[in-house]
This record gives sequence, structure tokens and C-alpha cells, in this order.
Amino acid sequence: MKRLLILAFFAVALTACTNKDEVPGLKTFIKDDFRIGVAVSPNTLEGVQAEMVKKHFNSMTAENAMKPAGIIRPDGSFDFTQADRIVAFAQENGMKMRGHTLVWHGSTPRGYMNDADGNPLTKEQVMEKHEKYIKAVFEHYPKDVIYAWDVVNEALADTPGESIYRTRSPWYSVFEGPEFIEWAFRTAKKYAPEGCELIYNDYNLVDPAKLERACTMLKEMLDKGVPIDGVGMQAHWDNTVTEEQIQTAIDRFSALGLDVQITELDLTCFDNYHGPGAQERQKIKQSVQYTAEMADAQAEEYAMIFRTLHKNRDKISSVTFWCLSDRSSWLNNFVRGRLDYPLLFDAQYQPKKCYFAVKDVYTKK
Ligand code: GLA
Repeated sequence: MKRLLILAFFAVALTACTNKDEVPGLKTFIKDDFRIGVAVSPNTLEGVQAEMVKKHFNSMTAENAMKPAGIIRPDGSFDFTQADRIVAFAQENGMKMRGHTLVWHGSTPRGYMNDADGNPLTKEQVMEKHEKYIKAVFEHYPKDVIYAWDVVNEALADTPGESIYRTRSPWYSVFEGPEFIEWAFRTAKKYAPEGCELIYNDYNLVDPAKLERACTMLKEMLDKGVPIDGVGMQAHWDNTVTEEQIQTAIDRFSALGLDVQITELDLTCFDNYHGPGAQERQKIKQSVQYTAEMADAQAEEYAMIFRTLHKNRDKISSVTFWCLSDRSSWLNNFVRGRLDYPLLFDAQYQPKKCYFAVKDVYTKK
């Protein structure tokens, strides 16, 4: 009896493994459309998650390890240890990476704009200090691994006002305006290896007003000859984003001659937590069950997104999911107290209905 039970256990375990293994890697059917990527931390690159990353993706972004606050130590020296683990994994497995990010108000180390005595640095001092950082970053990573860098992240305002730019930013303050954006791209260009794309990255770019702001800024920069190659649409979306919105944004950006990359794709099961009114919507602190209806709606939305991206594959060079599975999504921490279910794989790393919906876009033509 005991033997039978053990045999039965192994049979069940084997079936579970086989089922999981039978699911084709996203990169096998998305193939030549665009690079397909995932945001990772060094911990993602171990055990079953490492196998999933290798199987499904050919591109990675460091979720946090390549941000300035992940590299710059309090004493001003640089620590690339975490980032290097990810780069090594990419090299061992023939994967490429997106660099994220060089200038972002959200990852500027505390006290970075001050001297050792806490006095504010001048604009010139900040430029000198951060140019050293940008140079060190480009010199550090092997040239053939990183194909694109998010040079500036989230510099635009969410709400209309006097400025189209986010003014509550240490970068905007020290430069007394948005010139830090142009400075960052020109500085990155000085050190970036040949062929590495320089990207402006932001969220909510499907919102008509924010899209308008983005296009105004990008056009102005391009007219001035600022070396910007593409736009990263973060794509932290919810089920209300429409095909028309996505198409309009892609069309507007590519009309400017820019490459489009989808850089941080996930679909919250709550209302969108970005943009005007977001704080109100973040007040829901309780988890909800991931119901069959939610799974259906999410699968439908993901299918629409990938149908649209596939249609525009000549304008898009990479699509990256922000995290591997519902277990490690940043959304589980962003609003504390509630779990979210935004990705193609569940908290047990199993493919969800939305994984199969994406697969159907490619295999059921
Ligand atoms: C923004 C940033 C990312 C990341 C997410 C949350 O989208 O660009 O680096 O911090 O927020 O994980």
C-alpha cells in the first residue's frame, strides 16, 4: 500500500512537471516580432524561476539592480555586484538586456544632490558627479549585452499645469527646469557603445494628455538634435486600456521616427494606480480573489494587447514584462496589504489563462 502511494505520488509529480514543461516558451512563438523580456532580480535567476526565464525570454531588465540607488553607495563609490549577477546570467544564456535607468527622481540616492556637509551642490557639480557615474556605467558593462538604456525615466507631469514636466524632482530643481533631460541624453551618447539605443521611458503614455506632453517634449528634443532613439512605454496597464489608445501612441511615436519599446508590461486587477486620482484608488488595501471572471477579462485584454503589438511589430523592438510571476510582482508591495495578479504566470509559476490567450494570438491564425 505504502509503495502504491509513493508510486502514485511520483506519477502525479511527474504529470505536473510534464504539463509545465509542455507549455512552449513565449519566445518560441513570438519569435521574430520583437525581443521578449522580463524584469528580474538576482534571486529570480535561481531554481525553477531561472529555468522559466531561460525558456520564455530572450531579454531581461534588472528590476532594481541597475538603478542609480542600486549602484551608488553612500560614500559615492559604485557597487555593481547585484547587476553583475544578472549580466553574467544573460551572457551564460545568450540573452540581451535593457539598461534601466540612468536618471530618475525615484532612484536618486538620498543626499546625492548635497556635499559631504549636507550643502546643496550646484548644477555644475551635479553634472560633473553624474557624468562620472554615467561614464562608469557604460565602461562597466560588456558592450554586446545591453542593447538599450532608459536614459531618463518619468520626467513628465501627470496633471496639466504650468509645466508639462514633473517639477517635483531633484533633477528638475537643481537644473531649474527640464534641461537635465537633454543633458542626460547628450552625456549618455558620449559614452554609450555604438548601436546601444537611448530611450525615454515613462508610464501612462496611452493617456491622451500625457501622450501629448510626451510628443511635445520629444519633438522639441529631436528638433534640437538630442540623441534619442526611442520611447519606452512602461505599460503598467489595467483592463480599460483600449486597442485604439495603444495604436495611437505607437503611431505618434513612430511618426517622430522613434523606436517603440514596451518596457514594463503588467495588468493590474485593480483600477489603474497611475495618473490623476491614483492615490484615491490606492486606498483599497484588501486582497481580492482572482475569480474566473477576472481571469477571462485579463486574458481578453492581454490577447488584444499582443494582437496590437504583433500588428505593429515593425515599429516595436522589444516587449518586457515587469516581473516573472504573480508571486514576485512589484504590485504586491506597491500598495501594501493587497495581492495583485498582473502577469502571465501565477504565484506557483503556472501559466494562467492569459498565457494561453497570448499563445493563441500567435498559434491560432
Ligand atoms: C517604475 C520604474 C521601475 C519600477 C516600477 C516599479 O515603473 O520605472 O523601475 O520601479 O516603477 O517596480
